[in-house]
Amino acid sequence: MINKTIDESKQGEVLNLRPSKKFNLTKKMYLESYGCAMNFSDSEIVASILKKEGYATTKKIESADIVLINTCSIREKAEQTIRKRLKDFQKVKSNKPTLTIGILGCMAERLKTKFLEEEKIVDLVVGPDSYRELPQLIKEIEDGRKAVNVILSTEETYADIVPVRLGNNKVTAFISIMRGCDNMCSFCVVPFTRGRERSRDPISIINEIETVYKNGYKEVTLLGQNVDSYLWNNNLNKKAIKKLSSKQKEKSVNFAKLLELVAENCPNIRVRFSTSHPQDMSDQVLHTMAKYKNICKYIHLPVQSGSSRILKLMNRGYSREWYIERIDSIKKIIPDCGISMDIITGFCSETDEDHKLTLSLMDYVKYDFGYMFKYSVRPNTLAQRKYKDDIDERVKSKRLTEIINLQQKHSLHNNKKNVGKIKEVLVEGYSKKSNEQLFGRTTQNTVVVFPKENIKIGEFVKIKINSCTSATLIGKKC
Ligand code: 5AD
Ligand code: SF4
Repeated sequence: MINKTIDESKQGEVLNLRPSKKFNLTKKMYLESYGCAMNFSDSEIVASILKKEGYATTKKIESADIVLINTCSIREKAEQTIRKRLKDFQKVKSNKPTLTIGILGCMAERLKTKFLEEEKIVDLVVGPDSYRELPQLIKEIEDGRKAVNVILSTEETYADIVPVRLGNNKVTAFISIMRGCDNMCSFCVVPFTRGRERSRDPISIINEIETVYKNGYKEVTLLGQNVDSYLWNNNLNKKAIKKLSSKQKEKSVNFAKLLELVAENCPNIRVRFSTSHPQDMSDQVLHTMAKYKNICKYIHLPVQSGSSRILKLMNRGYSREWYIERIDSIKKIIPDCGISMDIITGFCSETDEDHKLTLSLMDYVKYDFGYMFKYSVRPNTLAQRKYKDDIDERVKSKRLTEIINLQQKHSLHNNKKNVGKIKEVLVEGYSKKSNEQLFGRTTQNTVVVFPKENIKIGEFVKIKINSCTSATLIGKKC
């Protein structure tokens, strides 16, 4: 997961689109997105598809003709949040019976027609690979039917659709480079909700980045469930590429080559990516990051557990030792690289010993930040079918607290090392606390807060760091 300011633990974010002059925007859609960055990026595709059908977005649910909720299934709590939100929509619909309510994303894919049975106010259920069908499905609803399309594709990448940028700032943009995941981690619902992995044509990726740059954006984040497994060769699938001769394979674009292409072709834009997978992250990627100034020195490398036994049960494809070797490589090739992680605590059969191994791995790596979760059983996953969710809720909570506390200690320790230094920051917007303060990020993805002075959003500025908390560096323009 890329940026937890948009994690499902937060309230849904209301996305806004300014009506365009080119389209006759006679209808209104209210779009709310939950979960990972990929979902937010997909919502921009949906806005683009529906804009052509005459829909502008609105922040006022009461004035909407259609409400679309882009949902997340990663943990049970995420699904509960959406169920609760539907109760609010129920009230709106009782005042306006013509309102169409649609469910998009992972919950749509997971529950399919069951969603219509369980939630009577829902009219439309559309999975992540079926958004092109939305205009047709909406017509069915206008004809008085309910509509469902959850067919997963092996090819759909929406490469030709120009997303409508819905984010709050005009500085950073998400660029989807692939869809789906073939990894089958035993705890994870994503392979079932987002289907098989497929990569997007690199030319369309470069074109999209050039367009956002021309529109004033300063940074892009290349998105994929496992970016290190990006592979493109003239629309061939991964299996077919693997069968090619080594000469033919040279023409393939892997993730390191894609990064290089982006860095060379778009030298003035800052580039990030997420998410990396320890099993597939190569030194070639690290060397490419080190070579180009415009590739951010930051890697989100989920570990999930520090115990090789648990990693095996999780079907992660690597051991503790392998992961540590990847960390050592990062630190050797990119000494100033920011590193973050995801950890799941309380996975099936996790002992105190396993938990201590996770804590000791954290002590070794000293992550800059991390996203930490209690294990949540997901229907139909390998773990749900094969293992018992046997860790007591109180034990899960206690272990999670220990992990969070240790991470805070490490974050503070790492941040303190920046006090007194000058950091280059891309300014993203106003700080949460005050309109007199701006915030931005360093190449390592650390948030920096500083007085506004005459600094503009979208500028790169040099900030002298004077103090810090575990989450933020605090400074002043120098
Ligand atoms: N329970 C808890 N956390 C999970 N994640 C994925 N599936 C589950 C689950 N069933 C976490 C992983 C992953 C992140 C996106 O969400 O840490 O990296
Ligand atoms: Fe889920 Fe594992 Fe794929 Fe990440 S890599 S989306 S955790 S199956």
